[in-house]
Amino acid sequence: MADLDDIRDGDNFGLNSPADTSKFYLKGMNSMGWGLKNRMSRIFNRASGRTVMLAFDHGFLMGPTSGLERIDLSIAPLAEHADCLMGCRGSIRTMIPPENTQPVCLRADTGTTILTEMNHNVLLGEEEMVRMNPSALAAMIAVGDAATEARTMANFSRLVDIGNKYDIPVMCVTAVGKDMARDARYFGLASRVGAENGASIVKTYYTEGFENVVACTSVPVVIAGGKKLPEIEALEMAYRAIECGAAGVDMGRNVFQSEAPVAMIKAVGAVVHEGMKPQEALKLYESLKAEG
Ligand code: 5RP
Repeated sequence: MADLDDIRDGDNFGLNSPADTSKFYLKGMNSMGWGLKNRMSRIFNRASGRTVMLAFDHGFLMGPTSGLERIDLSIAPLAEHADCLMGCRGSIRTMIPPENTQPVCLRADTGTTILTEMNHNVLLGEEEMVRMNPSALAAMIAVGDAATEARTMANFSRLVDIGNKYDIPVMCVTAVGKDMARDARYFGLASRVGAENGASIVKTYYTEGFENVVACTSVPVVIAGGKKLPEIEALEMAYRAIECGAAGVDMGRNVFQSEAPVAMIKAVGAVVHEGMKPQEALKLYESLKAEG
C-alpha cells in the first residue's frame, strides 16, 4: 500500500510541450507492435489523427433505449459515416452486416444492468473476442467506486494482457459513479489509471480543464457524448474537446437520438476532422437534415 499522506495535485502539465508523435502519428504508440499500430490506423484517420466512433453498446445494461430499439434500422445505416463502430457482440453479430468494412471496437465486458447495482462486470472469453475480428476491445473501469473498482480494474488488466497477446488495442471506458465529481481532477485520475494500466485509447467525459486530462494521459483520448443534448451543445462540446487535444469522440445518444442521425454524425465528423466551428457545423447539420 502506497503512503497516502501528502498526495499533491499535479500543476505542471507541460501544456506548451506536445507529446512526440514524430515516429508514429498517434500519441503513445511508438513502442507498440505492427499489428496494434495497423489496427489503430484503421480507427484513427491518418490525415486528422482523429476518429468519430459510433457507440451503441448501451443495450447490455439499459435494454432497448431510445434510438436503439432496432439497431438494424438505426445504426446499420450510420455505419458508413463512422470511423469505427463500438458495440456488443450480440448486436454486432445479429444486426451489423458482416460485409461491413468499418473497424469494430468490441465491448468486451458485460454484467449487471440498470435494474440492479451496475458495473459488477466480467469479460467475454478470449477466443470469442478474437473471433469477432475487432480492431479494438473496450472495457469499463469504475475508479473510485468501492464496490466495483477492484473487479473492473482486474477485468481491464486481464483484457490488456489479451489485447497485447494479439496486438489488439484496448480502450478504457471510464465510468462515473453517482458520488464522483465530474471534474478534470477526477477524469484526469481515471484516465491516467486507464493509460497506466495499458490502455491504447481512453474514453472519458469532457469537462472544464480538459486540456489537463488529455495532457496527463499518454494515449489518445476520446470523449463520450453523454445524455442527449440539443445539437448545438453537442457540437460545442466536441469542438471544445478537440481544442483541448482530444483525439475524437465515441458518441452514442447525441447521434442516434438526434432527429437526423446521419446529418448529426456528418456534422460531428466535420468538427472532429476539419475543426469546423460549432455554428458552422450546426448549419451543415440543418442543411443535411433538410435534404432528408
Ligand atoms: C458508458 C459508456 C457507454 O459505453 C456508451 O458508449 C456511452 O455513449 P454516449 O454517452 O455517447 O451515449 O461510455 O459506459
